[in-house]
Amino acid sequence: MLTITICVGSSCHVRGSDEVAETFDKLIQKENLADKVEMVGAFCMDACSMGVSVRVGDKIFRGIRPEDAETFFYKEIKSLVAAN
Ligand code: FES
Repeated sequence: MLTITICVGSSCHVRGSDEVAETFDKLIQKENLADKVEMVGAFCMDACSMGVSVRVGDKIFRGIRPEDAETFFYKEIKSLVAAN
């Protein structure tokens, strides 16, 4: 099981963490990955000024914008799911 942790601290919230989470959720359903991926929220990951922070397994990504969430999912998350 791969864990995706999305920062829901106030700064990331303002920058669209809800939208990022919704996009990931939609794509997890679409790609039938619900039994391979879990999504959790976390508080501030110390990169507030950069956009939404997301941790996938052990890797931390910073500065994810809602409009980039789908591209990010296919580029970073899907390959990590496959590797897990
Ligand atoms: S609020 Fe998300 S990194 Fe600080």
